[in-house]
Amino acid sequence: MNTRRTALSAAVLISGGGSNLQALIDACHAGTLDLDISVVLSNNPAAGGLERARREKIPLEIVAGSGYADRTSYDLAVARALDRYQPGLLILAGFMRILSADFVRRYEGRILNIHPSLLPAYPGLHTHQRAIEAGEKWHGATVHFVTAELDGGPAIIQARVPVLLEDGAESLAHRVLEVEHRLYPEAAQLYAAGRVVYRRGEAYLDGNLLRAPLQL
Ligand code: GRF
Repeated sequence: MNTRRTALSAAVLISGGGSNLQALIDACHAGTLDLDISVVLSNNPAAGGLERARREKIPLEIVAGSGYADRTSYDLAVARALDRYQPGLLILAGFMRILSADFVRRYEGRILNIHPSLLPAYPGLHTHQRAIEAGEKWHGATVHFVTAELDGGPAIIQARVPVLLEDGAESLAHRVLEVEHRLYPEAAQLYAAGRVVYRRGEAYLDGNLLRAPLQL
């Protein structure tokens, strides 16, 4: 899809339903996100999100996880597929693979991820269930720069949602996903506009060190 000729080229990496991909596409159409989503890559040939990309006529790359000796060779295949599109930004949107340090270094400071928790709380999987079991009053989602440490890169922006007494993991996940759809386009636009940058392990906003993530 092409929004503006000068828009930054972005690759969106998915594994599943792609509702965050859709939110990014919608924001591009609405003119609130200045990105050219030049490719959607999936490790999962059955990812529902691929259909969203097809509908928009965004080029697809499927790099299925099987058949690679190790993570390094898989990541190299992903990098080869992406580099054809020269992306200035990689957006991980429910991409359920851990990227190697070499891959992260190759695109250093140019990879965003959305994680369904208020990082640094609850990195990893099953965040909603873990937040409920711990009796948290607040939960949410974080967009952060990707570093070699899993869910450990500097946070850019967060959105909080209250944990309700009657919440189960599914209802909480649903409400978090709703805020993710506002959060990710917002974060991507901060990057696209050059307002948020990554430097030596830290995030900067308008030239100033971001000591704590912005709040949606
Ligand atoms: C989201 O909850 C995201 O935070 C997590 O994976 C989920 C992806 O959902 N990393 P979708 O594929 O964008 O619908």
